[in-house]
Amino acid sequence: MRLDVVTIFPGYLAPLEQSLIGQARRGGLLDIRIHDLRDHAHDRHRTVDDTPYGGGAGMVMKPEPWAESLDAIRRSGPAGAVPHLMIPSPAGVPFTEAMARSLAGEPWLAFACGRYEGIDERVYDHARERMPVTLVSLGDYVINGGEAAVLVIVEAVARLLPGVIGNADSLVEESHEDGLLEYPVYTKPAVWHDGGVPREVPSVLLSGDHAAIAAWRLGQRRARTAARRPDLLHPSLATTGLGDLLVSPATPADVPELLVLTRACWLPEAERAGTTALPPLRESVASLASSLEQWHTYAVRSGGRLVASVRGRVRPGDETAWETGRLIVAPDLEGRGLGRDLLAFAESLAPERVTSFWLDTATLTPRHQRILRKAGYRVVRGGADETAGPRSEIVSAVKRRP
Ligand code: ADE
Repeated sequence: MRLDVVTIFPGYLAPLEQSLIGQARRGGLLDIRIHDLRDHAHDRHRTVDDTPYGGGAGMVMKPEPWAESLDAIRRSGPAGAVPHLMIPSPAGVPFTEAMARSLAGEPWLAFACGRYEGIDERVYDHARERMPVTLVSLGDYVINGGEAAVLVIVEAVARLLPGVIGNADSLVEESHEDGLLEYPVYTKPAVWHDGGVPREVPSVLLSGDHAAIAAWRLGQRRARTAARRPDLLHPSLATTGLGDLLVSPATPADVPELLVLTRACWLPEAERAGTTALPPLRESVASLASSLEQWHTYAVRSGGRLVASVRGRVRPGDETAWETGRLIVAPDLEGRGLGRDLLAFAESLAPERVTSFWLDTATLTPRHQRILRKAGYRVVRGGADETAGPRSEIVSAVKRRP
Protein backbone atom coordinates (compact mmCIF):
# COMPACT_ATOMS: atom_id res chain seq x y z
CA MET A 1 0.00 0.00 0.00
CA ARG A 2 1.24 3.48 -0.80
CA LEU A 3 0.71 6.36 1.62
CA ASP A 4 1.60 10.02 0.98
CA VAL A 5 1.44 12.56 3.79
CA VAL A 6 1.63 16.32 3.23
CA THR A 7 2.53 18.38 6.30
CA ILE A 8 4.45 21.44 7.42
CA PHE A 9 6.01 19.29 10.18
CA PRO A 10 7.60 16.29 8.43
CA GLY A 11 9.43 15.38 11.67
CA TYR A 12 6.07 14.79 13.36
CA LEU A 13 5.63 11.65 11.27
CA ALA A 14 8.90 10.08 12.47
CA PRO A 15 7.04 7.47 14.58
CA LEU A 16 6.05 5.83 11.30
CA GLU A 17 9.65 4.52 11.23
CA GLN A 18 9.02 2.55 14.44
CA SER A 19 7.63 -0.80 15.43
CA LEU A 20 5.42 -2.83 13.10
CA ILE A 21 4.81 0.04 10.70
CA GLY A 22 8.57 0.64 10.40
CA GLN A 23 9.13 -3.07 9.80
CA ALA A 24 6.38 -3.15 7.17
CA ARG A 25 8.04 -0.20 5.41
CA ARG A 26 11.43 -1.88 5.45
CA GLY A 27 9.81 -5.14 4.27
CA GLY A 28 8.21 -3.36 1.31
CA LEU A 29 4.60 -3.83 2.48
CA LEU A 30 4.14 -0.10 3.01
CA ASP A 31 5.50 2.68 0.83
CA ILE A 32 5.12 5.80 3.01
CA ARG A 33 6.25 9.14 1.57
CA ILE A 34 6.27 12.29 3.70
CA HIS A 35 6.13 15.65 1.86
CA ASP A 36 6.87 19.11 3.20
CA LEU A 37 4.13 21.50 2.10
CA ARG A 38 6.66 24.34 2.24
CA ASP A 39 8.47 22.80 -0.73
CA HIS A 40 5.54 24.18 -2.73
CA ALA A 41 5.66 27.71 -1.27
CA HIS A 42 7.81 29.84 -3.50
CA ASP A 43 8.34 33.11 -1.64
CA ARG A 44 11.44 33.89 0.39
CA HIS A 45 9.76 32.89 3.67
CA ARG A 46 8.13 29.75 2.23
CA THR A 47 4.78 31.11 3.42
CA VAL A 48 1.88 28.64 3.62
CA ASP A 49 -0.69 30.72 5.53
CA ASP A 50 -2.40 34.10 5.43
CA THR A 51 -5.10 36.07 7.26
CA PRO A 52 -8.73 34.98 6.82
CA TYR A 53 -11.05 36.92 4.53
CA GLY A 54 -13.95 38.27 6.57
CA GLY A 55 -11.76 38.64 9.64
CA GLY A 56 -11.47 36.40 12.66
CA ALA A 57 -8.75 34.82 14.71
CA GLY A 58 -5.80 32.86 13.39
CA MET A 59 -4.45 32.11 9.96
CA VAL A 60 -5.72 30.06 7.03
CA MET A 61 -3.59 27.76 4.87
CA LYS A 62 -3.14 29.19 1.39
CA PRO A 63 -4.55 27.24 -1.57
CA GLU A 64 -1.64 27.36 -4.03
CA PRO A 65 0.93 25.25 -2.12
CA TRP A 66 -1.74 22.65 -1.40
CA ALA A 67 -2.86 22.38 -5.02
CA GLU A 68 0.72 22.13 -6.25
CA SER A 69 1.63 19.49 -3.68
CA LEU A 70 -1.46 17.33 -4.29
CA ASP A 71 -1.00 17.57 -8.06
CA ALA A 72 2.65 16.53 -7.71
CA ILE A 73 1.68 13.48 -5.66
CA ARG A 74 -0.99 12.50 -8.18
CA ARG A 75 1.47 12.83 -11.09
CA SER A 76 4.02 10.66 -9.25
CA GLY A 77 1.75 7.62 -9.34
CA PRO A 78 1.07 5.13 -12.10
CA ALA A 79 -0.75 6.50 -15.15
CA GLY A 80 -4.47 6.86 -14.48
CA ALA A 81 -4.17 6.10 -10.74
CA VAL A 82 -5.25 8.59 -8.08
CA PRO A 83 -4.97 8.38 -4.31
CA HIS A 84 -7.93 8.56 -1.96
CA LEU A 85 -7.26 11.83 -0.12
CA MET A 86 -7.98 11.81 3.60
CA ILE A 87 -8.15 15.20 5.31
CA PRO A 88 -8.19 14.98 9.11
CA SER A 89 -10.60 17.52 10.53
CA PRO A 90 -12.81 17.80 13.61
CA ALA A 91 -15.59 18.48 11.09
CA GLY A 92 -15.05 15.16 9.31
CA VAL A 93 -16.89 11.85 9.50
CA PRO A 94 -15.94 9.79 12.55
CA PHE A 95 -13.02 7.43 12.05
CA THR A 96 -14.05 3.88 12.96
CA GLU A 97 -12.71 0.36 12.67
CA ALA A 98 -15.13 -0.11 9.76
CA MET A 99 -13.53 2.84 7.95
CA ALA A 100 -10.06 1.45 8.73
CA ARG A 101 -11.09 -1.87 7.17
CA SER A 102 -12.41 -0.14 4.09
CA LEU A 103 -9.25 1.99 3.71
CA ALA A 104 -7.08 -1.11 4.16
CA GLY A 105 -8.58 -2.37 0.90
CA GLU A 106 -7.34 0.63 -1.07
CA PRO A 107 -3.99 0.67 -2.88
CA TRP A 108 -3.13 4.34 -2.37
CA LEU A 109 -4.04 6.86 0.33
CA ALA A 110 -2.87 10.45 0.69
CA PHE A 111 -3.23 12.62 3.78
CA ALA A 112 -3.39 16.42 3.95
CA CYS A 113 -2.46 17.68 7.41
CA GLY A 114 -4.09 21.03 8.06
CA ARG A 115 -2.83 23.44 10.72
CA TYR A 116 -3.93 26.86 12.01
CA GLU A 117 -7.59 27.65 11.42
CA GLY A 118 -7.77 25.23 8.50
CA ILE A 119 -7.19 24.99 4.77
CA ASP A 120 -8.73 27.41 2.24
CA GLU A 121 -12.06 25.79 1.31
CA ARG A 122 -11.27 25.94 -2.41
CA VAL A 123 -8.55 23.32 -1.93
CA TYR A 124 -11.24 20.74 -1.15
CA ASP A 125 -13.05 21.54 -4.40
CA HIS A 126 -9.78 21.44 -6.33
CA ALA A 127 -8.96 18.03 -4.86
CA ARG A 128 -12.47 16.61 -5.28
CA GLU A 129 -12.28 17.28 -9.02
CA ARG A 130 -9.16 15.12 -9.19
CA MET A 131 -9.50 12.35 -6.58
CA PRO A 132 -11.87 10.93 -3.95
CA VAL A 133 -11.72 13.07 -0.82
CA THR A 134 -12.86 12.18 2.73
CA LEU A 135 -12.76 14.51 5.72
CA VAL A 136 -12.17 12.32 8.74
CA SER A 137 -12.42 13.11 12.46
CA LEU A 138 -10.79 11.23 15.30
CA GLY A 139 -13.47 12.34 17.73
CA ASP A 140 -15.37 15.23 19.17
CA TYR A 141 -12.40 17.25 20.33
CA VAL A 142 -9.87 19.53 18.67
CA ILE A 143 -6.18 18.74 18.26
CA ASN A 144 -3.63 21.16 16.86
CA GLY A 145 -3.29 19.67 13.42
CA GLY A 146 -3.82 16.63 11.25
CA GLU A 147 -0.44 14.96 11.93
CA ALA A 148 -1.43 13.17 15.15
CA ALA A 149 -4.61 12.00 13.42
CA VAL A 150 -2.57 10.62 10.52
CA LEU A 151 -0.41 8.62 12.93
CA VAL A 152 -3.55 7.08 14.41
CA ILE A 153 -5.22 6.38 11.08
CA VAL A 154 -2.10 4.90 9.48
CA GLU A 155 -1.58 2.61 12.45
CA ALA A 156 -5.22 1.47 12.46
CA VAL A 157 -5.19 0.82 8.70
CA ALA A 158 -1.70 -0.66 8.29
CA ARG A 159 -2.17 -3.27 10.99
CA LEU A 160 -5.05 -4.71 8.98
CA LEU A 161 -2.86 -5.32 5.92
CA PRO A 162 -1.85 -8.94 5.40
CA GLY A 163 1.66 -9.51 6.76
CA VAL A 164 1.92 -6.37 8.91
CA ILE A 165 0.92 -8.14 12.13
CA GLY A 166 2.62 -11.52 12.60
CA ASN A 167 -0.31 -13.30 14.24
CA ALA A 168 -3.42 -12.59 12.17
CA ASP A 169 -5.55 -14.35 14.84
CA SER A 170 -4.88 -11.46 17.18
CA LEU A 171 -6.88 -9.25 14.83
CA VAL A 172 -9.97 -11.36 15.19
CA GLU A 173 -10.87 -11.12 18.86
CA GLU A 174 -10.37 -7.44 19.47
CA SER A 175 -12.34 -4.43 20.56
CA HIS A 176 -14.43 -3.06 17.71
CA GLU A 177 -13.57 -5.91 15.35
CA ASP A 178 -17.21 -7.01 15.58
CA GLY A 179 -18.46 -3.92 17.35
CA LEU A 180 -17.98 -5.17 20.92
CA LEU A 181 -15.23 -4.22 23.34
CA GLU A 182 -12.52 -6.74 24.13
CA TYR A 183 -12.76 -9.29 26.97
CA PRO A 184 -10.33 -8.97 29.92
CA VAL A 185 -7.05 -10.87 29.59
CA TYR A 186 -4.81 -12.46 32.24
CA THR A 187 -1.42 -14.12 32.36
CA LYS A 188 0.62 -15.95 35.00
CA PRO A 189 0.67 -16.07 37.98
CA ALA A 190 -2.80 -17.58 38.51
CA VAL A 191 -2.87 -16.00 41.98
CA TRP A 192 -1.13 -12.66 42.37
CA HIS A 193 -0.17 -11.46 45.86
CA ASP A 194 0.19 -7.71 45.73
CA GLY A 195 -0.21 -7.13 49.45
CA GLY A 196 -4.00 -7.21 49.82
CA VAL A 197 -6.51 -9.94 49.12
CA PRO A 198 -4.89 -12.40 46.68
CA ARG A 199 -5.99 -11.54 43.13
CA GLU A 200 -7.09 -14.64 41.27
CA VAL A 201 -7.48 -15.27 37.56
CA PRO A 202 -11.16 -16.20 36.89
CA SER A 203 -11.34 -19.96 37.39
CA VAL A 204 -13.08 -20.62 34.06
CA LEU A 205 -9.88 -19.57 32.26
CA LEU A 206 -7.95 -22.33 34.05
CA SER A 207 -10.62 -24.97 33.37
CA GLY A 208 -9.48 -26.02 29.91
CA ASP A 209 -13.18 -26.02 28.90
CA HIS A 210 -12.99 -24.08 25.63
CA ALA A 211 -16.74 -23.73 25.20
CA ALA A 212 -17.09 -22.35 28.74
CA ILE A 213 -14.20 -19.96 28.15
CA ALA A 214 -15.71 -18.70 24.89
CA ALA A 215 -19.09 -18.18 26.59
CA TRP A 216 -17.46 -16.36 29.52
CA ARG A 217 -15.49 -14.11 27.18
CA LEU A 218 -18.56 -13.21 25.13
CA GLY A 219 -20.45 -12.41 28.35
CA GLN A 220 -17.60 -10.16 29.49
CA ARG A 221 -17.53 -8.38 26.14
CA ARG A 222 -21.27 -7.72 26.24
CA ALA A 223 -21.23 -6.56 29.86
CA ARG A 224 -18.25 -4.25 29.27
CA THR A 225 -19.78 -2.79 26.16
CA ALA A 226 -23.07 -2.26 27.96
CA ALA A 227 -21.33 -0.53 30.88
CA ARG A 228 -18.84 1.59 28.98
CA ARG A 229 -20.31 2.03 25.53
CA PRO A 230 -24.06 1.36 25.56
CA ASP A 231 -24.19 3.37 22.34
CA LEU A 232 -22.23 0.57 20.64
CA LEU A 233 -24.05 -2.36 22.11
CA HIS A 234 -27.12 -2.82 20.06
CA PRO A 235 -26.10 -1.54 16.65
CA SER A 236 -22.92 -3.57 17.01
CA LEU A 237 -24.65 -6.82 17.74
CA ALA A 238 -26.67 -6.32 14.59
CA THR A 239 -28.96 -9.03 15.91
CA THR A 240 -31.37 -6.35 17.05
CA GLY A 241 -31.47 -4.77 13.61
CA LEU A 242 -31.90 -1.41 15.32
CA GLY A 243 -29.16 1.03 14.50
CA ASP A 244 -30.20 3.96 16.62
CA LEU A 245 -30.84 2.72 20.14
CA LEU A 246 -30.31 5.28 22.86
CA VAL A 247 -29.94 3.96 26.40
CA SER A 248 -30.32 6.63 29.09
CA PRO A 249 -31.40 6.90 32.72
CA ALA A 250 -35.19 7.19 32.90
CA THR A 251 -36.53 10.55 34.05
CA PRO A 252 -40.01 11.54 35.28
CA ALA A 253 -40.73 12.61 31.69
CA ASP A 254 -40.38 8.95 30.62
CA VAL A 255 -42.89 7.68 33.19
CA PRO A 256 -46.16 7.91 31.21
CA GLU A 257 -44.70 5.97 28.28
CA LEU A 258 -42.94 3.57 30.63
CA LEU A 259 -46.26 2.82 32.28
CA VAL A 260 -47.90 2.06 28.93
CA LEU A 261 -45.04 -0.20 27.79
CA THR A 262 -44.92 -1.94 31.16
CA ARG A 263 -48.62 -2.76 30.99
CA ALA A 264 -48.34 -3.94 27.39
CA CYS A 265 -45.43 -6.21 28.23
CA TRP A 266 -46.92 -7.64 31.40
CA LEU A 267 -50.33 -8.48 29.99
CA PRO A 268 -49.18 -11.79 28.48
CA GLU A 269 -47.56 -12.55 31.85
CA ALA A 270 -50.88 -11.96 33.53
CA GLU A 271 -52.61 -14.29 31.09
CA ARG A 272 -50.09 -17.01 31.72
CA ALA A 273 -50.19 -16.48 35.48
CA GLY A 274 -54.00 -16.37 35.51
CA THR A 275 -54.08 -13.17 37.52
CA THR A 276 -53.82 -9.45 36.90
CA ALA A 277 -52.65 -8.94 40.47
CA LEU A 278 -49.07 -8.58 39.31
CA PRO A 279 -47.30 -5.51 40.77
CA PRO A 280 -46.23 -4.09 37.38
CA LEU A 281 -49.87 -4.06 36.26
CA ARG A 282 -50.99 -2.30 39.40
CA GLU A 283 -48.46 0.50 39.13
CA SER A 284 -49.70 4.11 38.98
CA VAL A 285 -47.96 7.04 37.32
CA ALA A 286 -47.10 8.35 40.79
CA SER A 287 -45.73 5.08 42.14
CA LEU A 288 -43.69 4.46 38.99
CA ALA A 289 -42.31 8.01 39.21
CA SER A 290 -41.30 7.57 42.84
CA SER A 291 -39.68 4.20 42.01
CA LEU A 292 -37.13 6.13 39.93
CA GLU A 293 -35.64 7.28 43.23
CA GLN A 294 -35.19 3.74 44.50
CA TRP A 295 -34.04 2.05 41.31
CA HIS A 296 -31.55 2.79 38.56
CA THR A 297 -34.09 2.71 35.76
CA TYR A 298 -33.03 2.91 32.12
CA ALA A 299 -35.11 3.84 29.12
CA VAL A 300 -34.18 2.55 25.67
CA ARG A 301 -35.41 4.58 22.74
CA SER A 302 -35.33 3.93 19.04
CA GLY A 303 -36.20 6.81 16.72
CA GLY A 304 -37.59 8.64 19.75
CA ARG A 305 -39.93 5.79 20.67
CA LEU A 306 -39.61 4.01 24.03
CA VAL A 307 -38.89 0.40 23.07
CA ALA A 308 -37.41 -1.20 26.16
CA SER A 309 -36.49 -0.63 29.77
CA VAL A 310 -34.76 -2.29 32.70
CA ARG A 311 -34.05 -1.36 36.28
CA GLY A 312 -31.63 -2.54 38.94
CA ARG A 313 -30.51 -1.74 42.47
CA VAL A 314 -28.54 -3.04 45.41
CA ARG A 315 -31.08 -5.06 47.39
CA PRO A 316 -32.20 -3.03 50.43
CA GLY A 317 -30.76 -4.71 53.52
CA ASP A 318 -28.21 -6.78 51.58
CA GLU A 319 -25.31 -4.81 50.16
CA THR A 320 -23.95 -7.89 48.37
CA ALA A 321 -27.07 -8.60 46.29
CA TRP A 322 -28.08 -6.82 43.10
CA GLU A 323 -31.61 -7.12 41.84
CA THR A 324 -32.64 -6.55 38.28
CA GLY A 325 -36.27 -6.15 37.33
CA ARG A 326 -38.89 -4.81 34.96
CA LEU A 327 -36.94 -6.02 31.98
CA ILE A 328 -39.32 -5.16 29.15
CA VAL A 329 -39.00 -5.10 25.38
CA ALA A 330 -41.69 -3.82 23.02
CA PRO A 331 -43.59 -6.81 21.57
CA ASP A 332 -42.59 -6.04 17.97
CA LEU A 333 -38.90 -6.11 18.90
CA GLU A 334 -38.82 -9.36 20.85
CA GLY A 335 -36.41 -12.05 19.74
CA ARG A 336 -33.59 -9.73 18.66
CA GLY A 337 -31.39 -10.16 21.70
CA LEU A 338 -32.35 -6.81 23.20
CA GLY A 339 -33.57 -8.39 26.47
CA ARG A 340 -30.37 -10.41 26.84
CA ASP A 341 -28.23 -7.32 26.28
CA LEU A 342 -30.26 -5.21 28.67
CA LEU A 343 -29.87 -7.86 31.34
CA ALA A 344 -26.08 -7.77 30.87
CA PHE A 345 -26.27 -3.98 30.96
CA ALA A 346 -28.26 -3.97 34.23
CA GLU A 347 -25.78 -6.40 35.81
CA SER A 348 -22.89 -4.21 34.73
CA LEU A 349 -24.32 -1.39 36.86
CA ALA A 350 -23.80 -3.39 40.07
CA PRO A 351 -21.07 -2.03 42.35
CA GLU A 352 -17.93 -4.11 43.05
CA ARG A 353 -19.15 -5.33 46.45
CA VAL A 354 -22.07 -7.20 44.88
CA THR A 355 -21.54 -10.96 44.82
CA SER A 356 -24.94 -12.23 43.65
CA PHE A 357 -27.42 -11.16 40.99
CA TRP A 358 -31.14 -11.64 41.52
CA LEU A 359 -33.91 -11.37 39.04
CA ASP A 360 -37.64 -11.55 39.72
CA THR A 361 -40.05 -12.37 36.97
CA ALA A 362 -43.75 -13.04 36.92
CA THR A 363 -43.92 -16.34 35.08
CA LEU A 364 -41.44 -18.85 33.84
CA THR A 365 -42.17 -19.91 30.29
CA PRO A 366 -39.70 -22.18 28.51
CA ARG A 367 -38.47 -19.05 26.69
CA HIS A 368 -37.85 -17.24 29.98
CA GLN A 369 -36.08 -20.30 31.30
CA ARG A 370 -33.83 -20.42 28.26
CA ILE A 371 -32.91 -16.75 28.52
CA LEU A 372 -32.20 -17.03 32.25
CA ARG A 373 -30.16 -20.21 31.85
CA LYS A 374 -28.12 -18.68 29.05
CA ALA A 375 -27.45 -15.65 31.25
CA GLY A 376 -26.18 -18.03 33.97
CA TYR A 377 -29.20 -17.80 36.33
CA ARG A 378 -30.68 -20.61 38.39
CA VAL A 379 -34.32 -20.53 39.48
CA VAL A 380 -34.63 -20.61 43.24
CA ARG A 381 -38.34 -19.96 43.83
CA GLY A 382 -41.22 -21.00 41.61
CA GLY A 383 -40.75 -23.05 38.45
CA ALA A 384 -42.16 -24.19 35.18
CA ASP A 385 -44.77 -26.42 36.81
CA GLU A 386 -46.17 -23.49 38.74
CA THR A 387 -46.73 -21.12 35.84
CA ALA A 388 -50.42 -21.91 35.53
CA GLY A 389 -51.64 -20.58 38.84
CA PRO A 390 -51.44 -17.43 40.90
CA ARG A 391 -48.80 -19.09 43.09
CA SER A 392 -46.34 -18.38 40.30
CA GLU A 393 -46.71 -14.60 40.68
CA ILE A 394 -43.04 -14.15 41.44
CA VAL A 395 -40.22 -16.37 40.29
CA SER A 396 -36.74 -15.59 41.58
CA ALA A 397 -33.55 -16.50 39.82
CA VAL A 398 -30.04 -16.00 41.06
CA LYS A 399 -26.46 -16.26 39.92
CA ARG A 400 -23.13 -15.65 41.59
CA ARG A 401 -21.13 -12.81 40.17
CA PRO A 402 -18.67 -14.35 37.70
N1 ADE B 1 -7.73 18.11 13.53
C1 ADE B 1 -8.10 18.84 14.58
N2 ADE B 1 -8.94 18.16 15.35
C2 ADE B 1 -9.10 16.94 14.76
C3 ADE B 1 -9.87 15.80 15.07
N3 ADE B 1 -10.65 15.74 16.15
N4 ADE B 1 -9.81 14.76 14.23
C4 ADE B 1 -9.05 14.81 13.15
N5 ADE B 1 -8.33 15.86 12.80
C5 ADE B 1 -8.34 16.94 13.59
